[in-house]
Amino acid sequence: MTNYLSPSMLSIDFTKVGEQLKIIEDAGVPYIHLDVMDGVFVPNISFGIPVIQGIRKTSNMVFDAHLMIVDPERYIDQFRKAGADIINFHVEATKDPVGCIAKIKESGAKVGITVKPNTPAEVIRPYLQDVDMVLVMTVEPGFGGQKFMAEQLSKIRTLAKWKAECSFSYDIQVDGGITLENVREVLDAGANVIVAGSAVFGKEDIAGAAKAFLNILKEYEVR
Ligand code: DX5
Ligand code: ZN
Repeated sequence: MTNYLSPSMLSIDFTKVGEQLKIIEDAGVPYIHLDVMDGVFVPNISFGIPVIQGIRKTSNMVFDAHLMIVDPERYIDQFRKAGADIINFHVEATKDPVGCIAKIKESGAKVGITVKPNTPAEVIRPYLQDVDMVLVMTVEPGFGGQKFMAEQLSKIRTLAKWKAECSFSYDIQVDGGITLENVREVLDAGANVIVAGSAVFGKEDIAGAAKAFLNILKEYEVR
């Protein structure tokens, strides 16, 4: 299985966005994770469409948008036009997950369905055949730099088990509190897309931190 690193831009130095995106892209990082928050679905506001549109001109990485907004179906086309390649929406944020999945597919982006820590995997079971990615939150969404919730590992295992049993093709993305110390646990559980915000952009040596993650991810591919 191919593993991917998706550093979260939430922890970037916003006075050096272009420069720091180039650092990770040059280090071989394939994805950039874009945390969009509306101050309603989560108690925080981050950035949105114009920022994504702006950085699209400077980066060839895969844009992995994580929408923490209510009724995400309202803005799918705009995020796609701004440059999102993958659009993750929260199942808790919409009354119509089926419609949301259809809308993302129509836009041409890959579809990711996302669950908060208190949402059981069973809630998204009916949609798994139709998505390209499942995003498992290992912190309460809203802020970077929180502590990893190890009790979410069983959800990752369940999703990996269903994937194998039913030959589903989704990637399993894990987001929140991932560090070089605990990343092996989530890979062991079956995740293959790793988000890391503070553990990459929060470090003095951003390229070094990204490369250390990439090496571990590669090591797991050959196992
Ligand atoms: C939280 C965001 C995460 C967060 C990750 O709502 O979805 O992507 O920025 O940051 P770290 O890796 O610092 O927990
Ligand atoms: Zn995120």
